[in-house]
Amino acid sequence: MCSQTQMTFNFPNVCTLFLLVLFYFIKFSDGKVFSDQHPLSISRTRVEKMTHLHFFFQDIVSGKRPTAIQIATPNRAYGTGFGDMMMADDPLTAEVDRKSEIIGQAQGIYGLASQNEVALLMVINYLFTKGKYNGSSIAIVGRNPPMQDIREMPIVGGTGLFRFARGYALAHTVWSNSQGDATVEYHVYVYHF
Ligand SMILES: *[C@@H]1O[C@H](CO)[C@@H](O)[C@H](O)[C@H]1NC(C)=O
Repeated sequence: MCSQTQMTFNFPNVCTLFLLVLFYFIKFSDGKVFSDQHPLSISRTRVEKMTHLHFFFQDIVSGKRPTAIQIATPNRAYGTGFGDMMMADDPLTAEVDRKSEIIGQAQGIYGLASQNEVALLMVINYLFTKGKYNGSSIAIVGRNPPMQDIREMPIVGGTGLFRFARGYALAHTVWSNSQGDATVEYHVYVYHF
């Protein structure tokens, strides 16, 4: 009944379920465990999802109320700004307009990490504050050369509804001025449970 062929190609079958139940009782019958494990492969309730998020990152460095401030300056000057570091608490808006609905905050550090071109290291948590994802966040750690039209950065994790998150973000600058203020459009594709 429990032949290899059946288990490999006809999963989950009655035989596999039986073995999982048996394994469960063997593992937990001594009552001394401090952890437990759930057989995700036969779960019908925890289905991995792919979510697409679309929002605008509003980075304001000028004026009386900047949302990103310089926190470190290099002790020597490079043409590319290498070594400059900023801390941001930038609003994420639903529309391109800075005054449109704020749906989250991008909180973290970005700094110029290349000696030869303008390229940022981004270490930023994107916390959502509206609707279904209120309180959930995704973490981005990636390379962002802002002069390029579209930059790709990895999603390395998340919290709340974005637990176990992984995926990628595509960033495109839609507007910027000489002082360094910018509006950046994000398309995020995230796998999570
Ligand atoms: C988001 O969650 C916080 C904390 O639970 C709550 O205070 C706030 O009212 C919520 N905001 C929205 C728009 O649901």
